[in-house]
Amino acid sequence: MADEPLVLGIETSCDETGVGIVRGTTLLADAVASSVDEHARFGGVVPEVASRAHLEAMVPTIDRALKEAGVSARDLDGIAVTAGPGLAGALLVGVSAAKAYAYALGKPLYGVNHLASHICVDQLEHGALPEPTMALLVSGGHSSLLLSTDITSDVRPLGATIDDAAGEAFDKIARVLNLGFPGGPVIDRYAREGDPAAIAFPRGLTGPRDAAYDFSFSGLKTAVARWIEARRAAGEEVPVRDVAASFQEAIVDVLTRKAVRACRDEGVDHLMIGGGVAANSRLRALAQERCEAAGIRLRVPRPKLCTDNGAMVAALGAEMVARNRAASSWDLSADSSLPVTDPHVPGREHSHDHDHVHEVSKENLYS
Ligand code: KG4
Ligand code: ZN
Repeated sequence: MADEPLVLGIETSCDETGVGIVRGTTLLADAVASSVDEHARFGGVVPEVASRAHLEAMVPTIDRALKEAGVSARDLDGIAVTAGPGLAGALLVGVSAAKAYAYALGKPLYGVNHLASHICVDQLEHGALPEPTMALLVSGGHSSLLLSTDITSDVRPLGATIDDAAGEAFDKIARVLNLGFPGGPVIDRYAREGDPAAIAFPRGLTGPRDAAYDFSFSGLKTAVARWIEARRAAGEEVPVRDVAASFQEAIVDVLTRKAVRACRDEGVDHLMIGGGVAANSRLRALAQERCEAAGIRLRVPRPKLCTDNGAMVAALGAEMVARNRAASSWDLSADSSLPVTDPHVPGREHSHDHDHVHEVSKENLYS
C-alpha cells in the first residue's frame, strides 16, 4: 500500500553497517557491509576497528540501499537508527549519520532499540507480529527472553544470560577447537555430522530452584574446554564433530526449553526467535518440534534477517510512524546500555527549526 510509511533504518551497533528500507511491513532494500573479516584475526570484534569501518561504509551503504529500493531519499517518511544497546563508538557513527540525513532532508528521526528491532524484523517475513509475542533473542551480544505486548512501547524482559551470551559461547568453543571466527556457523556445520548425545555436557540454570528464564553458558563453556584439554593431554584425538554436536545440543536444549516454558507460563501462543544464533539449524529444528508439541506457533525469520541488519531498524521505525510514536529529538545520543524496556528514544517535539542545528552536535559528527 502506497500510504504505508517508507522508512530507512541504520544499524551500526556491532560490526555490521546495515541500511534497510521498508514500506510498512514490506522489505524494499537490505544493504549490509560487514567488517567481520577485519576482526577475524583477533577472534572477536575490536570496537575501534568496527567504528572506523562504519564510518567508511556508511554513505556508500545508504546509497546502495536507496538504489536497491528504487526510491528517492526525499520520499522517506522517517529515518530510524539503532540508539543502543551496542558498542558506544560504533553506535555513535550510525546516530550521527541518521541525524545528518534526517536534518538535511527535513525528516523525523527515530532512535530505536536494537533488541526490539530484532523482534520487529519478523514482520518483514511473516507479516504483522501478533501481540503478545514471546521473543527469544540469541546473538553474540545478548541472550534474552522478552515478552512484547506492543513492540513500540511495551517490551518486558523475563530473563537473560547471567554470564556469556549464547553466540559468545559458540565463538569461544570454536576458538578452543581451532575452527575460526565467528564460531556459530562452523560449529553448526560440524555438528551436522556429529552425535549430539556423544558427550553429556551440563545444562546451566535448569535446576528446580534456578531462575526459570535466565541463562548461563559459562559453566558449559568451561566444561567443554576441560573435556577437550583432557583429551589433548592424554594424547588422544578430539572428536570435533561429536564435541560440536553435543555442545550445540546443550545450548539449544536449554534455550528452547525455557522459551516454551515462558510461553506456557504467560499464556502466549506465539514464539519468535531472533538474533544471529537463530540462524542455527538445530535450534530451528528443535524449537519447531517443541513448539508443535506445546501448541505454540513458531516464527523465525530467514538467517539474513536474524543477523544484524538495517532492515530490522527500518521495520521498527515504520511501526513507530504507523503508531504515531513521538520522533526523537536532535539531541538523541547513543546509549550503549539502552534497556529493552525503551523500544525507542523519544524526545522533545520534533522541530526543523534551523536554530537547532548546533544540537546535531559537532562532537558527535566528528568524534
Ligand atoms: O546478531 P548477530 O549477528 O550479532 C550480534 O548482535 O551479536 O549475532 C552474531 C552471533 C555470533 O556469535 C555467531 O557465532 C552467531 O551469532 N551465529 C550462530 C550461527 N550463525 C551466527 N550461532 C550458531 N549457529 C549459527 N548457524
Ligand atoms: Zn544483534
